[in-house]
Amino acid sequence: MHYSPNESRYETIPYNRVGNSGLKLPAISLGLWNNFGGEDVFENQRKLLQKAFDLGITHFDLANNYGPPPGSAEENFGKILKQDFANYRDELIISTKAGFGMWPGPYGDWGSKKYLVASLDQSLNRMGLDYVDIFYHHRPDPETPLEETMAALDLIVRQGKALYVGISNYGAEDTQKAIDILKRQGTPFVIHQAAYSMLNRWVEDGLTDVLENEGAGCIAFVPLAQGLLTDKYLNGIPSDSRAAKQYIKSLSKKDVSEEVIGKVQQLNEVAKERGQSLAQMALMWVLQEKSVVSALIGASKVPQIEENIKALDHSTFSTDELAKINKILK
Ligand SMILES: NC(=O)c1ccc[n+]([C@@H]2O[C@H](COP(=O)([O-])OP(=O)(O)OC[C@H]3O[C@@H](n4cnc5c(N)ncnc54)[C@H](OP(=O)(O)O)[C@@H]3O)[C@@H](O)[C@H]2O)c1
Repeated sequence: MHYSPNESRYETIPYNRVGNSGLKLPAISLGLWNNFGGEDVFENQRKLLQKAFDLGITHFDLANNYGPPPGSAEENFGKILKQDFANYRDELIISTKAGFGMWPGPYGDWGSKKYLVASLDQSLNRMGLDYVDIFYHHRPDPETPLEETMAALDLIVRQGKALYVGISNYGAEDTQKAIDILKRQGTPFVIHQAAYSMLNRWVEDGLTDVLENEGAGCIAFVPLAQGLLTDKYLNGIPSDSRAAKQYIKSLSKKDVSEEVIGKVQQLNEVAKERGQSLAQMALMWVLQEKSVVSALIGASKVPQIEENIKALDHSTFSTDELAKINKILK
């Protein structure tokens, strides 16, 4: 079926400036970590991307290893780009990353210049792109000098293979070091991709201060704690949920613990009082943290994207609501 995007797609969602850069990201972005691999239904993947774009989501986030198998999410995304979005490349912000194990031998993992440069070439090939908009180093490498990893990012920008660069999963101190090195090399540091949700608040212990001081932005990944911060696990584990899927290792049935669900039930009550679903409240909650410009969600079904986008209809939190949430999360 031929796809033509919704003409009013830019009327629903705010686009937030990433720190002091020229880049703007939609308040909600879509990641392809899960649901876009070789095990997932291709037509559903098309529908998810089409619906996202129709609702104003202009940013799609990938990584070399997304699948399973690794690389398959980029391949599927490349096919859908060609099929449905060929005329819309300039309306999209596409990101990818390297930093986790991708191919055998000493050059397919971590943070060497050899790995990052080769991996991005492979990613561009799989997606059928000349360049990505954002390239990230996916995790800190304790052995490669940070100067070398940042030199790889600087080189990639100078080669025109990425327009902006960022890092992911770096702590506050290493982020500061990376920013200082990139400044010396002459390529601005733009964005940090960090895990952040009501169930995982580590960024508040210094990282967002660094980003705020340095005029950089944060995109918060896994803002729904892989689905735990929605109403889906309140009455057991649905068979089509991530926790139930054997081929997904990042969330298992044991993660849906009584302790977590106890908190989720209380959070769900606060969301109801606000007139929102829990997923919607969880997304707005990450967006109120300083320097967070976008909540990077995943979705397995189109109605999830439709529900999540409506989070933006009800933005602010009262001091009382925040205090109530903090008490539940303690
Ligand atoms: N940089 C990194 O190291 C890193 C690591 C992880 C992720 N990420 C990025 O973050 C993105 C998002 O990760 P994530 O998918 O774990 O994020 P998430 O938004 O926390 O979880 C998404 C999952 O929650 C469920 N869901 C979403 N909306 C729902 C709704 N309204 N009602 C009920 N369930 C809902 C779906 O699970 P079901 O499948 O159960 O329906 C969906 O697949 C990734 O795609 C990737 O781009 C980055």
